[in-house]
Amino acid sequence: MSAVLSQSGPQPLSAPSYVRHRRLLAWVAEVAALTQPERIVWVDGSQEEYDRLCEEMVRAGTFRRLNPARRPNSFLAWSDPTDVARVEDRTFICTDTREEAGPTNNWMEPGQMRARLGGLFAGCMRGRTMYVIPFSMGPLGSHIAQIGVELSDSPYVVVNMRLMTRMGRPVYEVLGEHGEFVPCVHSVGKPLAAGEKDVPWPCNPTKYIVHYPKTREIWSFGSGYGGNALLGKKCLALRIASFMGRDQGWLAEHMLILGVTSPAGRKYHVAAAFPSACGKTNFAMLIPPAAMPGWKVTTIGEDIAWIKPGNDGRLYAINPEAGCFGVAPGTSEKTNANAMAMLRENVIFTNVALTDEGDVWWEGMGPAPAHLTDWQGRDWTPEDGKAGRKAAHPNARFTVAARQCPSIDVDWENPAGVPIDAFVFGGRRSTTVPLVTEARNWTEGVYMAATMGSETTAAQAGAQGVLRRDPFAMLPFCGYNMAEHFGHWLALGEKLAASGAALPRIFCVNWFRTDDSGRFVWPGFADNMRVLAWMVDRIEGRDGGATHALGVSPRHDDLNWSGIRFDAGEFERITSVDAAAWRKELESHGELFALLSHNLPPQLEATRRALADRLG
Ligand code: OXD
Ligand code: MN
Repeated sequence: MSAVLSQSGPQPLSAPSYVRHRRLLAWVAEVAALTQPERIVWVDGSQEEYDRLCEEMVRAGTFRRLNPARRPNSFLAWSDPTDVARVEDRTFICTDTREEAGPTNNWMEPGQMRARLGGLFAGCMRGRTMYVIPFSMGPLGSHIAQIGVELSDSPYVVVNMRLMTRMGRPVYEVLGEHGEFVPCVHSVGKPLAAGEKDVPWPCNPTKYIVHYPKTREIWSFGSGYGGNALLGKKCLALRIASFMGRDQGWLAEHMLILGVTSPAGRKYHVAAAFPSACGKTNFAMLIPPAAMPGWKVTTIGEDIAWIKPGNDGRLYAINPEAGCFGVAPGTSEKTNANAMAMLRENVIFTNVALTDEGDVWWEGMGPAPAHLTDWQGRDWTPEDGKAGRKAAHPNARFTVAARQCPSIDVDWENPAGVPIDAFVFGGRRSTTVPLVTEARNWTEGVYMAATMGSETTAAQAGAQGVLRRDPFAMLPFCGYNMAEHFGHWLALGEKLAASGAALPRIFCVNWFRTDDSGRFVWPGFADNMRVLAWMVDRIEGRDGGATHALGVSPRHDDLNWSGIRFDAGEFERITSVDAAAWRKELESHGELFALLSHNLPPQLEATRRALADRLG
């Protein structure tokens, strides 16, 4: 349903009669008056609407329909080459004080930011359609779900939000006349003058991704890409939700959630935090090696977990999303056959390469065809690949509904969530951090999470391969002071322990140690099942493992090696604890704690000193 607006005077909203929420109507009118779109479309989330918008984008050159015989009902978008990743340096947490946002977030005083954005958003949707996109993070109507409404001038955002969230008309039924919602405003920041021809991927070199956690508002300007534009994901489900969780006693985490069933038929649930592009999707969809019969992994979520204490003192997690926005390069039948099956149809690909047959290709998928069109529309041959030119952008993505995943768990939409038995924290570290270590207690586990580090990848704009501390894998996603996030975890642990419940185990993993020639030593992927099986041993109280300065790790004999040869020497390479390297590591943890000294829980510095003493 749409209404053509005049450029001045009262603007007809033409809201459908089922939208009865006065505050929402007033807010839409207010944003329309500011941004001056040519028309407003209230999206209903139907298949017809999705198909129509995709078709319109094909005509506009934003989308290319892939060959229906090879990739039914799927599309490819190529973004502007300057708009290819989340822009962390342009992402702001506008709390009242700088300390509330903490030193790891960009901050600006809210009034000042509002004034700045007021100027940018004024008239920014001229010549465009403003879509009103109602969505639910979490199953519709569930007590843990949060509703958002995104106003966006990007049809690409509409169709992606339909795959990533529960989006459309039923949301208004839940919202009723007075329900709470998170208002999200998004503009690509490229108004069109009368008669001006649009470009396939409009965006603006000036970008702002802004959160006002106190008033639960999100304003995003200038980018049409991923987490900058699909505001339910990083902005709402992590930054705003983590702030809510701090106030309300729950957690919003950058974690996959998986179910693991042992050959004895016992099922456990694991929530695992890894920085962007460290294989979360692969781990969440792991297919155990054939030589480990009886083990089964099922997928509840692959990027975000909302975790709440239940009445029984255990922690329960839900996946607030309904889709995956996964990194395509590196995904293959070998690394993630479930993802490849999930991607057979109904997919939006962004910035992958196009084959001459009208299908997609990316680095790591398999042998390169003799000719491709790369993500910037240029001819590409394997010779270009040898010269270092990638056919797909390293942060190229697929957007797909989670229900298409063959390993999806029966409980993935259970509004009560699944009980968590273990947390796993991992980063990409070519040295120092062992394959797997179990924390001796909750505080040491929180310490491991707080001091996580990872070598950067293409998911973040900027230099790659640089070690950065990424506490809880939440560095770009925590909507309040990171040191207080540590305190929140410690307090939650104390509260749960006081109720007499067994706390989830906490493990730290690193799949990425390399040998002298830079080759990964650990095979990873399906073989990560061996580590997961050891965790299940620990959860079930079996004794396999040796205690060292940092915690408890398996000995070579404690892992199941059926089906592969991985000798004790290789194992030593990826599990050894080099005391000198660890002393340096602890110094670097100390630098992190100095940065986060405001409200840093004293237990963490005490743990650091105890670890240093243990190392001798
Ligand atoms: C993501 C990310 O897109 O973490 O999930 O960058
Ligand atoms: Mn992520």
